[in-house]
Amino acid sequence: MLQKFDPRNRDLLVNVNGALVHRDQAGISPFDSAVQGGDAVWEGLRVYDGRVFKLDEHLQRLHNSARALAFQQIPSSEAITEEIRRTLRANGMRDGVHIRLTLTRGVKYTSGMDPRLNTAGPTLIVLAEWKAPVYEEHASRGGLKLITSSVRRFPPDCLDPKIHHANLAQSILAKIEANNAGADDAVMLDARGFVAETNATHLFLVKDGVVETPRTVACPEGITRATVLELCAQHAIPHQVRDLSLMEFYRADEVFCTGTMGELAWVGQVDGRPIGAGALGPVTSRLLELFRACVARNGTAIA
Ligand SMILES: Cc1ncc(COP(=O)(O)O)c(C=O)c1O
Repeated sequence: MLQKFDPRNRDLLVNVNGALVHRDQAGISPFDSAVQGGDAVWEGLRVYDGRVFKLDEHLQRLHNSARALAFQQIPSSEAITEEIRRTLRANGMRDGVHIRLTLTRGVKYTSGMDPRLNTAGPTLIVLAEWKAPVYEEHASRGGLKLITSSVRRFPPDCLDPKIHHANLAQSILAKIEANNAGADDAVMLDARGFVAETNATHLFLVKDGVVETPRTVACPEGITRATVLELCAQHAIPHQVRDLSLMEFYRADEVFCTGTMGELAWVGQVDGRPIGAGALGPVTSRLLELFRACVARNGTAIA
């Protein structure tokens, strides 16, 4: 799965601390904490028909992450929402849009890791792009192909995934393994050997009609994941959250992954083993329908 350049994004205006700047000129300081140490938190959001899906949940997760990293100043949700609105308006966007929202600890007065070097306040970046769900093509060619990475996800006592931080080296290493194996993405295990998630999405399996997903001990508190669990509860679809091993994925009837960037995407094979009947399964298909109906009905009007 390699995303292609969308020519509609050629002249994007990017919002950096309130200034709307052409993408070729937009930038941050070499002294910014994101450059110096990946010291930033981020959210991926999606805009459907002028509404941001689960905006409050995303802003809450951003705030929680920034608090956990002890950022000294965190812009209010109202202020961030206004910058998102300005960015969408400036780009004439209201549908089919993905937003990467980044909050860094800000500019340091000299290079170094110490957060006490940050006296300038945080940097807020709103990058909105035209972007269809990134796994859309895979459905017609046998579902996503996953391999298992040798890179493990951190447990909470190493780097707690409840901080949604912008230091993605671990995910990038796993993605390189997937690329080298000709796969779309990589399954990542936790330090105990249970499945955590993929390098970019949460994982679900369906076995005997029950939808199952790992606990969030070694993966972020996913907003799409939570939405799928809510939909299961609302529509009386049996579901469970528990530790799941790789073998349980190999022998599942259906496997799918979730995330804001790619919504729900079915998995056709894991480590060369075909999953279930090797086609989009009935439970995944139903959840995809319910999810599409949910995003069409809900969200915070913004554009
Ligand atoms: C590592 C990781 N896993 C999964 C997800 C999917 O989470 P969500 O559904 O909140 O987009 C993300 C999204 O940012 C992520 O960074």
